[in-house]
Amino acid sequence: MSGDGPMSGDGGAAVIEARGLTKHYGQVIAMDDCDFDLRPGEILAVIGDNGAGKSTLIKSLTGAVVPDSGTMRLDGEVVQFRSPLDARRAGIETVYQELGVAPALDITQNLFLGREQRRPGLLGTVFRKLDKPAMRREAAQQMVDLGIRVQSIRQQVETLSGGQRQAVAVARVAAWATRVVVMDEPTAALGVRETNQVLDLILRVRENGLPVVLISHNMPNVFQVADRIHIHRLGRRVALVQPRTTSMEEVVAVMTGARPPDTLAPLDPTS
Ligand SMILES: Nc1ncnc2c1ncn2[C@@H]1O[C@H](COP(=O)(O)OP(=O)(O)OP(=O)(O)O)[C@@H](O)[C@H]1O
Ligand SMILES: [Mg+2]
Repeated sequence: MSGDGPMSGDGGAAVIEARGLTKHYGQVIAMDDCDFDLRPGEILAVIGDNGAGKSTLIKSLTGAVVPDSGTMRLDGEVVQFRSPLDARRAGIETVYQELGVAPALDITQNLFLGREQRRPGLLGTVFRKLDKPAMRREAAQQMVDLGIRVQSIRQQVETLSGGQRQAVAVARVAAWATRVVVMDEPTAALGVRETNQVLDLILRVRENGLPVVLISHNMPNVFQVADRIHIHRLGRRVALVQPRTTSMEEVVAVMTGARPPDTLAPLDPTS
């Protein structure tokens, strides 16, 4: 399936390039010889019907699923992530579809989960204290920067609304990613205002030079922000298109199998 025409990458240096990814769960083929390409600084939307295998693909790219076969390169180097921590160490931050927050912890603790800042202390590494005031200040600033309104930074995440919770998850990835930001349905549970905030945030992440992988069922949102659209069907990428040259109707027709992918406009390699 690593092929020609609209299916292949465009030859530019990819941040992530995966070829032939496959994942079986017993009789279920969740990923079937799947390719994936992410270019520097782009917002890449990944779309597909329920069960098409989008989350499985994203989890393979971010270490949460180990594919049965296939290869992945990060900035040209072959990588094999065995856990989400491997991917995080490589600079890839992810908001998973199954919400990526710890409900019993407060906002600050969620933002710093796993990377709590420590005050330099006399007793060295073992007894160093968590620098809570500094973390709270930074967490509050991060929320303000992202335009996310909450009553208190000490509020437990389980007491937030669904939209606010999602915003905390997004704030965390935006704060820590150094190479790639991945979001699996970040706006699925959000109202109009919160959705627009998350979309603004995604655009801001791109302005800061980081590429974003955005899994979404919301076609208007996808067409609003994506530079390219990866269309996923039956466990693999069936087309890679630009919203500039492909209509929403065409994209949906290919996604549902109503139209063969090779009838779409090929990628314009000059843009
Ligand atoms: N851990 C698992 N065990 C068994 N089957 C799985 C597992 N994870 C995914 N699958 C199956 O693999 C297929 C792809 O699932 P996946 O969650 O990747 O789809 P998706 O495109 O993300 O769907 P949605 O749009 O509903 O989020 C489905 O048939 C699903 O049931
Ligand atoms: Mg999914």
